[in-house]
Amino acid sequence: MPFLKLSRRQFAKMQFSKILGWSTLGMSAATGARGADAQADLPQESRSAQPGFPNGFRWGTATSSYQIEGAVNEDGRGPSIWDLFAQKPGTITDRSTGDTADDHYHRYKEDVQLMKALGAKAYRFSIAWPRVFPDGTGTPNPKGLDFYDRLLDELSANGIEPFATLYHWDLPQALQTRLGGWTSRDTSKAFADYTAYVADRLSDRVKHFFTINECSRTVSLGHQYGSDAPGLKLPRAELNQVRHHIALGHGLAVQAIRAHARAGTKVGPAENAVSCIPAIDTPANIRAAEIAMRELNAGYLTVMLEGKYTDAYLAQAGRDAPKFTPEDLRIISSPVDFVGLNVYMPDHYVMAADNARGFTLAPFPASFPHMDAPWLRLGPETMYWTPRHVAKLWNVKSIYITENGTAGTDQPAADGSISDLDRVMYLRNYLTQLQRATAEGVPVHGYFLWSLLDNFEWSDGFEKRFGLYRVDFDTQRRTPKLSASFYRETIARNAVV
Ligand code: FCB
Repeated sequence: MPFLKLSRRQFAKMQFSKILGWSTLGMSAATGARGADAQADLPQESRSAQPGFPNGFRWGTATSSYQIEGAVNEDGRGPSIWDLFAQKPGTITDRSTGDTADDHYHRYKEDVQLMKALGAKAYRFSIAWPRVFPDGTGTPNPKGLDFYDRLLDELSANGIEPFATLYHWDLPQALQTRLGGWTSRDTSKAFADYTAYVADRLSDRVKHFFTINECSRTVSLGHQYGSDAPGLKLPRAELNQVRHHIALGHGLAVQAIRAHARAGTKVGPAENAVSCIPAIDTPANIRAAEIAMRELNAGYLTVMLEGKYTDAYLAQAGRDAPKFTPEDLRIISSPVDFVGLNVYMPDHYVMAADNARGFTLAPFPASFPHMDAPWLRLGPETMYWTPRHVAKLWNVKSIYITENGTAGTDQPAADGSISDLDRVMYLRNYLTQLQRATAEGVPVHGYFLWSLLDNFEWSDGFEKRFGLYRVDFDTQRRTPKLSASFYRETIARNAVV
């Protein structure tokens, strides 16, 4: 067929098939067109019965620096707390590290093509602070942002919009050693200085920044239970102070973006809010779930969006309450442009109660279902309630789902194909609930699927796979799973398929 006779759809089809070898999965390739248009030229019988997402809804994938980049000793990068933590015996299930991970530092061009093949027009990645300031503060590494320059140019050349996270847990080890990391408010200040430098250098191309990924996990797993870097098990007063410093770091970073980024640059947190779902949808339970949501996120979204710790939070902490000034609270609650939410599972099912708090949390039965990780409970309705509560409680006008996805066993068949029906089921159900939210006017403007690739899953090493693409960590070969086709079709139709 002569080239000029090919429609865009046919051409795109050829490209997709070429890049991915979709045919090995026995699947058709689809157009990159979206929404109603895409529906219109589908044969009647293959049109989705589902209503679509709003026009302009951004579809993307998400990753983080330490989980995919590798190249830990290249171009002047300093060590991060995760490099040291992963080397300690007993910290990572399979004794792996992120030294090579997905080798994305060298394979980013190939990986951008994988995004493009999905039809994804947005990408959330994180910048490694220790590449930029190997000592945490002071003189920036002249080569520190070169990799991100290259990545941004590649994304732009392929029509993919960058959403950059400033901190996805790879704190420069120097700050841990010198200052005690987030136990010191000087780390919050160092984070603001690093943010200012990145904003100066990258905001010509990055228009959306996320400050800190999941403050709450960094506090709990990193500083309370010690299962994430830096592996501390702090007493309650110190833990509350760490929580305060991290929130302060978020606020200072928002201010640094305002002061240093190009006009129009947007910024917000990316939090795994504690999700509170009405056990049964009655007006009283819904109200109770909202109250619970505000209280159980007191040290994170509540203080960021209200500028105060709740009375119940301070009363419960008692003598161990964090030390702070009114100025700290003003900084922490610096106005944001959007709220990013990492949504994986229901944390609590809530019932109205005639007690001081106004709610009780229903206990989970042992048989409550979960995915291929004990923590990853299956509860798609969290994808409806979490953004709805956030929009309503704090009058938030713009929300991004910054992460959602699941681990799966992903055993390749003899022909190499990966029929990850469990991931497809999970995504279909969560996205259906997201569509329910947007249809009701909850202002969710985009969705980033975790993750583009299988990667270094923190203390689970390479044993938990979250990718749309399988990665063979011996050869670095990437293979699309069935879920990659599911996501591509969903993006193409702008509706759950
Ligand atoms: C989130 C993290 C992300 C990844 C997913 C599975 O808590 O932000 O890096 O590990 O869980």
